[in-house]
Parts: sequence; structure tokens; C-alpha cells
Amino acid sequence: MCGIVGYIGREKASDILIEGLHRLEYRGYDSAGIAVPAGDGALEVIRREGKVEELERACAARELPATMGIGHTRWATHGRPSETNAHPHIDCEGKIAIVHNGIIENYVQLRDELKAEGHTFRSETDTEIVAHLLEKYYDGDLVAAMAKTVTRLEGAYGIAAIHVDHPDQIVVTRKDSPIVVGYAAEQQASLLASDIVAVMNYTRDVIFLEDGQIAKLTREGITCYDGNLAPIEPALTHVDWDAESAERGGYPDFMLKEIFEQPRAVRDTIAGAVKNGRVLLDELDLDDDDIEAIDSVCIIGCGTSYHAGLVARELIERWARIPVSVEVASEFRYRDPIVGSNTLVIAISQSGETADTLAAVRIARAKGAQVFAVTNCVGSRITRESDGVLYVRANMEISVAATKSFLAQIACLMLIAMFLGQKKGRLTTRQVNSLYYDLRETPSQIEDILQDTAEIEKAAKLIAKAHSVMYVGRGIGSTICYEGALKLKEISYLHAEAYPAGELKHGPIALLDETVPVVAVVTDSPTRMQTLSNVQEILARKSHVVAVATEGDEEAARIADCVLYVPPCKDWCSAITASVPLQLLARYVALERGCDVDHPRNLAKSVTVE
Ligand code: M6R
Repeated sequence: MCGIVGYIGREKASDILIEGLHRLEYRGYDSAGIAVPAGDGALEVIRREGKVEELERACAARELPATMGIGHTRWATHGRPSETNAHPHIDCEGKIAIVHNGIIENYVQLRDELKAEGHTFRSETDTEIVAHLLEKYYDGDLVAAMAKTVTRLEGAYGIAAIHVDHPDQIVVTRKDSPIVVGYAAEQQASLLASDIVAVMNYTRDVIFLEDGQIAKLTREGITCYDGNLAPIEPALTHVDWDAESAERGGYPDFMLKEIFEQPRAVRDTIAGAVKNGRVLLDELDLDDDDIEAIDSVCIIGCGTSYHAGLVARELIERWARIPVSVEVASEFRYRDPIVGSNTLVIAISQSGETADTLAAVRIARAKGAQVFAVTNCVGSRITRESDGVLYVRANMEISVAATKSFLAQIACLMLIAMFLGQKKGRLTTRQVNSLYYDLRETPSQIEDILQDTAEIEKAAKLIAKAHSVMYVGRGIGSTICYEGALKLKEISYLHAEAYPAGELKHGPIALLDETVPVVAVVTDSPTRMQTLSNVQEILARKSHVVAVATEGDEEAARIADCVLYVPPCKDWCSAITASVPLQLLARYVALERGCDVDHPRNLAKSVTVE
């Protein structure tokens, strides 16, 4: 959610910081700011509520020759969005500036203590106490002051600090909030950010700081320390995401670009996963005894990742005959869940940084369960907190609305379901080959769907006029309805509900009339006929129907106002294919309603606080 950048080198820092903040905009924010040395023994702190463009304009109007500084995009937690609450925050004398991601849980107590000692506070934030703690502990050494400061903090933080008396260094640390640092040798510059996207134009060899580590960035390089200030040498990670991936590449918005990247995302995720009828998931480091012992699977995640888990439940139960529960991580973490050494826990998170999912992982592991993460982000927190990791190969996802990561998650989970089915002796090599063959068809089926979106745009015009929309389906079809409804809600601000079609008559059908359109997933499946009967009930209430159906389905064409066709495929593959028109539908509705699809209000890409 919040974003941090820092630069120390030979170039004009404010330009590089602003560029970095622009790259972090996709994370969601309400204000932005930078701090650089002013050259007269003071710091220049410039902050603006609203967009980074505002900040950019303010910076352009000033002389800012400094070649080092820090910047931040804020998403309000403590204190309303405002210029005063925007970061960077400074100490009493204006010599230290800091930016912070996360939440300082004991800030009230610390603020009282610091106030009693004479410190003056200017903002309503939890963050400001960090600047004053640094001031309190500073004794000529900013690194040492940081080491002392963090011993006082409870909560989650990524913190970067500068001191006007040390224009040759930036000090950064973290706990439960990501920080990446990198040195660009050619430019003699060190960079830091909360997200690789903000540094990768300068260097691809980076260090993902671990909790408790402190890094000092200078023009000559980066020195890392543990919490006791002993020098350490963290491993460099080479990141090979291309810069193009962080830009829209000609599409009007990232969401559309990412929807069009889905064939590649699925292909990359499943590539080489089956050889000679055997599912090769070495990352699932489970020997035969481990597999034998697994008597249940528990899947945890939030939002879209949770919905991917619903698809996985259908398939793991179908192919491996292991009972599966799917839990929203924010509930799981507080309800003393029944998991143990015989439970395989799969934690799904695109970002790998979602606070609730991480907390759920810790709880599951504390109860003795083996936890495997399914994530899109190399080096993310979840990869370090789990027993094993399966990466989905969606590549960087910028749009707040998850699309390609969802399909890649589903594809990855399908492989896990096949793997478990095979290991449990429920799937033969022949069956695995056949399933894998079907799965490998889905990328080109997505490409077919993307070729002609005219009917989806027509359906969007119908939906955009409504005040509420219902999504219904059965089995796999119902799982993707939840995701379709979430997409619509988050980017078009239109109320939407998803229900298993058979549940309609138990309550929600009372909502239906000609003002409430229904999106019905009626693709080929064992329950298609039952869903079509439900559509008849819907029509009887005069609701307009947008059907997602298999090409050639004439019955769907007869009963629906619009039909969004997908190529024929196995019902389980339709979790992938039929999701695509639902994503596009949400996007076109959002555009019809004049919404900014990539920056939905109140939302952030990565929810790193509870
Ligand atoms: O990074 P995660 O997958 O853990 O994020 C979980 C949710 O916040 C996320 O899926 C959210 O629901 C989507 N951005 C919605 O499109």
C-alpha cells in the first residue's frame, strides 16, 4: 500500500525519487512526499495530498540540486489523508527525515513518552514517533540511532532515514514490511524501495532485506548490518523482469495489458510441469510418507487469491479425494483452526506480503502443519515464512485488480491437484497426461476469447446502467462468479453478489427484477441443465441475463440478452477460460461508468496491514 523510495548518487535526486514514486502509484496511495538536503544545513521536505503529479509540480517549482533523498506514497492508516500527515516526517529540529511503511502498534505510548521529554509532534501519524526516536538516540551515528530506535518499536515497518549532517548516507531497515536495496555501479548510486519496480531501471541485482537488518546506502556501495550492528553480507538476487513489464506497453490501462498477458502467464506457469505422465512439482517437497499422512488440505488466502482457492478445492477433492477447506485468512488467523501435522496448508498470495495471509501461515505452522505458498513475487515475505514455495509465473502485476495472477494461480493449483491425485494413487499417468493436455489448450483458448470483445462491450452497456448485479453458476462456475463479482465491485463501484445458482430460491431471488441484471455462467458442466433451469427462474422475475456459455450453445443464445462465448473445454478448464469474459466485463463496465480501472478508490495492490 504505502511506497518507499530512496536514492543516493550523482544525479538530481528529486527527479529520480519522483520517477520511483510514479512507479509505485499502482500500490494505491492518498498523498506523496520527498525529503532532500537543501544545501543550507537544513532539509527540504515537500509533500502533497493527492497524486504524485501534484508533488512533481511542487518540486519543479523549486531549486533542488541535492543528489540524495527519500520519498514516499502514503495510504492512510493513522491520521486522515492530508499534507500534514504525508511522509516524510521530521524530528523537532528538522535535521532528520524518515519515511515509513507499516504500522507502529505502540505509537501512543511512545508518543506520550517523547512528548513528556519535550518533543513536539506535528502530525496525527504513528510514523512521526520514529523521527523523534531517532533524534533521541542520535549520537553522531545514524545507523546506531536506527538500531536503538527499532528496539522500541512494536508492529510492522520499513523505514528509511536521512540526516542533514550525513548527506553521504541513507539508512534503512525493516520488519514485516518489504524493503529492497540495490547498487548501480555504473552510476555510482545506491537505491532502495519497498518494491523492486522502483529500482529495476537502475539495477537488477538487489538485496531483499530481512527483518531486523539495517542497510547503509552510500555512493560507493551498500553495507548491511544485523540488529547488533555486526556487518553481514546478504545474498544478491538477480531479478530478470523486463522493464517493459512495468509499463503499459501500448494498452490504455494495465488491467487490459495484464488480461492480454494471461495466455503467457498460464503457459509459463504450467511449462514443463508434466513429463511422461508424472507431475513434477519438486517444490512440493513431500516424500511418499508425507503424502500418505496428509488427510486434509486447508487453503488460505484473501480476495482473489481466496477465490483461486475455491477452484482448487473442487479439483483437489475431485482428483485426489482429500477433503479440502478454503478459508479467508483474516478469519482463519483468529479462530483457532483445526490444522496439524496431517494437514497440508496451501497459502495463496499474489504479492506474498498480505498481512492476514502471513499471520495465517504463522498460525498454521505453529500448529504443526506444512505450509506451501503459492505466490507471484520472488523474495516476498511469504516465501521466507513457508516450508516451500510454488511460484506462479504471471510476472509483475501492476493493476490493483488481479487478473493474470488469478489465472496463473488457478493453473498452478490445478497442477497441485494433479500432483496430489497422482501421489494418492487416484490418477494414472495416462489420466495425468490427458489432464495436462487439456490444461495446455487453455492459453490458446484465452487468445480466441480476446480476439473479439464486441459482445462483452455490449453486455457492459447493459450492466453499467444497473444499481446491483447478481452472478450465478454451479460448481466451478460458481467459484469464478465470486471472482467476477469482486472484479465488478472493485473497479466499477457497482454492487454485485455471487451465489451458487441453486441458492437463489433460498433468498436472493427476492432481489431480482428488471433493474437487477444477472450474469449466469452456463458453460458445459455436469450441472449445466440445473443452472439453465435457474436462469428460467431468473427470467420469470424479468431480470436481464448475460450468459457465459460454450460456443455453439444455442439455448443460451435464446434465453439471454447477451451471450459471452468461450471455446469448448473441460468443465474444470472453464475456471480459466470463463474467467476472462468476466474480467473484461468488469473492465468495460468500469469504463462505461467513467472509473479509473487501474486505481480503484480505497484499494491498494498489496494489503500489508491488518
Ligand atoms: O497479494 P494477495 O494475493 O495476497 O492479495 C489478496 C487480495 O488483497 C487481492 O487478491 C485483492 O482481492 C485483489 N487485488 C482484487 O483484485
